[in-house]
Amino acid sequence: MSNIKFLKPVLLLVFFILLFIIFFLSKPSDATAGIAIYWGQNGNEGNLSSTCATGRYAYVNVAFLVKFGDGQTPELNLAGHCNPAANTCTHIGSQVKECQSRGIKVMLSLGGGIGNYSIGSREDAKVVADYLWNNFLGGKSSSRPLGDAVLDGIDFNIELGSAQHWDNLARYLSKFNNQGRKVYLTGAPQCPFPDRLMGSALNTTLFDYVWVQFYNNAPCQYTSGNTERLFDSWNTWTTSVTAQKIFLGLPAAPEAAGSGYIPPDVLISQILPTLKKSGKYGGIMLWSKFWDDRNGYSSSILASV
Ligand SMILES: *[C@@H]1O[C@H](CO)[C@@H](O)[C@H](O)[C@H]1NC(C)=O
Ligand SMILES: *[C@@H]1O[C@H](CO)[C@@H](O)[C@H](O)[C@H]1NC(C)=O
Ligand SMILES: *[C@@H]1O[C@H](CO)[C@@H](O)[C@H](O)[C@H]1NC(C)=O
Repeated sequence: MSNIKFLKPVLLLVFFILLFIIFFLSKPSDATAGIAIYWGQNGNEGNLSSTCATGRYAYVNVAFLVKFGDGQTPELNLAGHCNPAANTCTHIGSQVKECQSRGIKVMLSLGGGIGNYSIGSREDAKVVADYLWNNFLGGKSSSRPLGDAVLDGIDFNIELGSAQHWDNLARYLSKFNNQGRKVYLTGAPQCPFPDRLMGSALNTTLFDYVWVQFYNNAPCQYTSGNTERLFDSWNTWTTSVTAQKIFLGLPAAPEAAGSGYIPPDVLISQILPTLKKSGKYGGIMLWSKFWDDRNGYSSSILASV
């Protein structure tokens, strides 16, 4: 009799432990979709800390490192936010940490539409990878532009210059993964496949998140009433590129790009349901924080992403 009395609470305990295990195993850890935002190219878009405090973004790309490679002294450009030449951007490091403490991943974005960047050789790729590691990631340097913050990774936003050696840069950066902390690799190719400049880098299969620019690219973007080109291109990207997640990159306002803007109601009712059928769907990337504030885009779509 006393054995059975004892058994009851034990069974109850086992039952609750099982419930706990089931709950945590079924909880999607990295699987929830989110919004990636580009921050840094407009001084009137709020600081990094307030950007992350909105709760609207899961990833922030700090844009851009506009000059690097081929022996050039690397140059960060954060528009009106601070002046890297006068070393006034280091205080942004604490804001990076604040974002990270909210679970937001912060990447340094390389390239952009203006600037002067290229990788001259395999050796140059190593020089640039070492520079990025020592100045923005887990390494050490006396002149870290964002102070001692260790960013989560490097975003490739290569829109100018040569197609050479970006794959080498990706390989050298990914080698730092064995230094104890993951270095995320992300990229923002144009939607025509394969990307003219970043194709070889993306083919390394080392990229975690790829936010494809479905704008300023008529052959593969949404045009009023026509979702077909976008869906065809999305299908190509999700089936051809080996990355953890693929994101739909969009302008956050009609004025944010030459073309490709998708009104929030169209995105929610006509586009997202199809994208979500792919296991590669990771969410939405928006250009940029400034335009998102102006148009309220991420607020309108967040619940549906
Ligand atoms: C960021 O901007 C917000 C809103 O303007 C302000 O309250 C806050 O003090 C700023 N934070 C930093 C670290 O500059
Ligand atoms: C880019 O850098 C190269 C090498 O330093 C230089 O020759 C070229 O004039 C630069 N171009 C621009 C547009 O600044
Ligand atoms: C990368 O792989 C794709 C096929 O997935 C191919 O079409 C492309 O030519 C490859 N190379 C480059 C440099 O893009």
